[in-house]
Amino acid sequence: MLEAAVAIRGLRHTFPGDRPVEVLDGVDLEAAPGAFVSLVGPSGCGKSTLLQVLAGLLVPDAGESLIEGRSTVGEPGLAAYMPQKDLLLPWRKAIGNAVLGAEIAGVGKEAAREQAMALLERFGLTGFESAWPSQLSGGMRQRLALLRTFLVPRHLLLLDEPFGALDAITRREMHQWLQEVWATDARTVLFVTHDVEEALILSDVVYVMTPRPARMAARFEVDYPRPRRPEIVTDPAFVADKARLLAALDAPTQRQAGVPTPPPRWDRLRACSEKPADEL
Ligand SMILES: Nc1ncnc2c1ncn2[C@@H]1O[C@H](COP(=O)(O)OP(=O)(O)O)[C@@H](O)[C@H]1O
Ligand SMILES: [Mg+2]
Repeated sequence: MLEAAVAIRGLRHTFPGDRPVEVLDGVDLEAAPGAFVSLVGPSGCGKSTLLQVLAGLLVPDAGESLIEGRSTVGEPGLAAYMPQKDLLLPWRKAIGNAVLGAEIAGVGKEAAREQAMALLERFGLTGFESAWPSQLSGGMRQRLALLRTFLVPRHLLLLDEPFGALDAITRREMHQWLQEVWATDARTVLFVTHDVEEALILSDVVYVMTPRPARMAARFEVDYPRPRRPEIVTDPAFVADKARLLAALDAPTQRQAGVPTPPPRWDRLRACSEKPADEL
């Protein structure tokens, strides 16, 4: 059996201080190689904290965080990481921004540049390599930040709400585009979002987190055929599945009223009536 791309077990973390903030309360997660896995949770529950542990930038209080069997604790750089606010450097042109992560990861300047140029078209940035970030649209800036992340030579991509700041129309375009890019790339993705619909469209597996301190409330396998078109969101089965995810998001709030947290629900969503492309 292939080793899990990501294995997180019993992860706990409290930010110290006058008022310590308990963030992770025994989080478990597993991602198979090549899978697109989303992490959905309310704002402030600890999603970014979890990604920082995987990125090796934050040492947790307890638990295991493994990428391909290697502990990420105190070891940054095992994954390509796109932080929630992945700011482009305004004084570097698009191409200069694109190569930044690869250069930091040790790829030579020329090689990184060549790889970036080869990917410009797939990332919808042809002809914009010499543009300044301020000359790009919001969608293009996000694609550029994603291109920078894809250029980092790692099997795992950690993407923290990459489309969070985009308008709804651009976001829909990005969902289609990201599916195409990912389909031609064998990498594992761990994708953080607070948008249930986005998670359902993109993912093979969706984990739902409880409010802080976070645990996993539910795990859904999403077996809809790919590619998933924008119209899928009006499919009655999709709508029903979305309601199930939202219910899982809402359920743990009972915990705050003293109700013990139930064990995570494991569900398989395959009822979607969308036909595979070759049957249409
Ligand atoms: N360095 C830090 N020190 C203290 N508290 C922090 C720190 N980073 C995050 N937090 C707090 O931890 C909680 C979880 O943050 P975060 O992981 O960013 O949540 P999410 O990404 O799910 O919105 C929040 O309440 C946040 O204010
Ligand atoms: Mg966050």
